[in-house]
Amino acid sequence: MAFAQLSTLIALVFGAAQFVAAAPPRKIRCADGNVTSNAVCCQLFPVVANLQENLFDGAQCGEEAHSALRLSFHDAIGFSIHGGKGGGADGSILAFNDTELQFHANGGIDDIVAGQFPVFQTTNLSPGDFVHLAAAVGTANCPGAPQLEFFFGRPPPKAPAPDLTVPEPTDSVDAIIERFADAGFAPDEIVALLSSHTVAAADVVDVTIPGTPFDSTPFTFDTQIFVETLLVGTLFPGNGSQSGEVLSPIPGEMRLQSDFELARDPRTACLWQAMINDQTRMQTQFKAAMAKLEVLGQRNLVDCSDVVPVPPPFRGQAMFPATFSRRDIQQACQATPFPTLETIPGPETSVPPVPGS
Ligand code: HEM
Ligand SMILES: *[C@@H]1O[C@H](CO)[C@@H](O)[C@H](O)[C@H]1NC(C)=O
Ligand SMILES: *[C@@H]1O[C@H](CO)[C@@H](O)[C@H](O)[C@H]1NC(C)=O
Repeated sequence: MAFAQLSTLIALVFGAAQFVAAAPPRKIRCADGNVTSNAVCCQLFPVVANLQENLFDGAQCGEEAHSALRLSFHDAIGFSIHGGKGGGADGSILAFNDTELQFHANGGIDDIVAGQFPVFQTTNLSPGDFVHLAAAVGTANCPGAPQLEFFFGRPPPKAPAPDLTVPEPTDSVDAIIERFADAGFAPDEIVALLSSHTVAAADVVDVTIPGTPFDSTPFTFDTQIFVETLLVGTLFPGNGSQSGEVLSPIPGEMRLQSDFELARDPRTACLWQAMINDQTRMQTQFKAAMAKLEVLGQRNLVDCSDVVPVPPPFRGQAMFPATFSRRDIQQACQATPFPTLETIPGPETSVPPVPGS
C-alpha cells in the first residue's frame, strides 16, 4: 500500500515536472483564427492588415515603410532619462503634429504623418501604439530585417515633445553621442539603430533631388549602408551641396555627414565595420536597440510581438558596388581586418531615386 502510494506520488511529481518542462509558450486563438500570446493582441491583426493595405501599398518596403520607421525614431527620441524632454514613444508626433512638424529636424516627416493620420483614425489604437506598430510592420516588409518587437498599451500622449531632441546630420559626433546618451543609448546602440539607413532616402536634405537613397539597395535590409559609407569621400559638401550632405562616390546616392563621421569615429568605427556582411549581427543588435527605442517613457505594456509579420529573408552577400574595391575603402577600425567582399560585375551604375518621395 505504502509502496503504491509512493509510486503514485512519484508518478505525479514526475508527470508534473514533465508537464512543466514540455509546456509550450501560452498561445490563445483569436475569433478570426489568428494565434497570439495574449487575448488583448487579437484586435491588432486587423490593424496589421489595414496598415499593409492602406499605408504600405500591399506590404511593400517602399517610401511609406521607410518613413514609418523614421517617424517612430523621431517620436521616441523625444525623451530624456533625466526627464523633461517629452513622453518618448508616445505618438506625440502624430497627435501634436502642429507643433512637432515645425521642428527643423522633422523636415520631410509631414508626408508620412499625413499618410498615417487617416489610417490611424480608422483604428481604436492610441497614437503611440499606432506609430510604433506601423514601424514594426513597415520594417517587416523589407527583406533581411529582423522581426521587430511590438509592445501594446500606450496611453494617449500628454504633450508635444520639445524641440531639439532629434539629431541632425550636421551635428558633431560628440553632440550625437551626447543626445543619445541623454535618451539612454550607448554608442554601439547608435550604430545598431543606424542600420535603418539601409532602407532610407532623403527628400529634404537636398530638395532638388528628392528620394535620393543612402545606399544602393534601399528596398533591402542588408548591410550595404555600412560598406558604402566607408568608400572614399570627402567632408566637403557634395552632390547638391546642401548642409548635412557630403560627397558619395556612388552616382545617385546621398551620404549624410553624420553617417560619414560615425563610420570613421574611433567610438563607433569598429562596430560600423563589424556590421558589414554580418546580417545576423545587424539583425540582432538593431532589433535589441529598436526594442528599447519603441518603449521609451512607457510602462505596463503587453508583449504583442507575435502580431508583427515575419520579414522575408535576405540571402545575398554585402558587395562592393560595380567598379569599387577594397582600395576605395577608408578603413577606420584597425582592430579587425576589413571583411573580404566581391565586387558587383559590370560598369559603374547610378542608384535610382526611391519612387513616391
Ligand atoms: C544620428 C542620428 C540620425 C540622423 C542625423 C538622421 C538623419 C536623417 C536624415 C537627414 C534623413 C533624410 C530626411 C529627408 O531629407 O527626407 C534620414 C532619413 C531616415 N532615417 Fe535617419 N537619422 C538618424 C538616425 C536614425 C534612426 C535612429 C532611425 C531609425 C531607427 C532612422 C531612420 C531613418 C529612415 C528609415 C530614413 C528614411 C526615410 C525615408 O526614406 O522616407 N534614422 N535620417
Ligand atoms: C488573421 O487576421 C487577418 C487580419 O484580420 C485575417 O485576414 C485572417 O483571416 C485572420 N486569420 C488567420 C487564420 O490568419
Ligand atoms: C495633425 O493632427 C490633426 C489633429 O490634431 C489632424 O486633424 C491633422 O490631419 C493632422 N495633420 C496631418 C498632416 O496629418
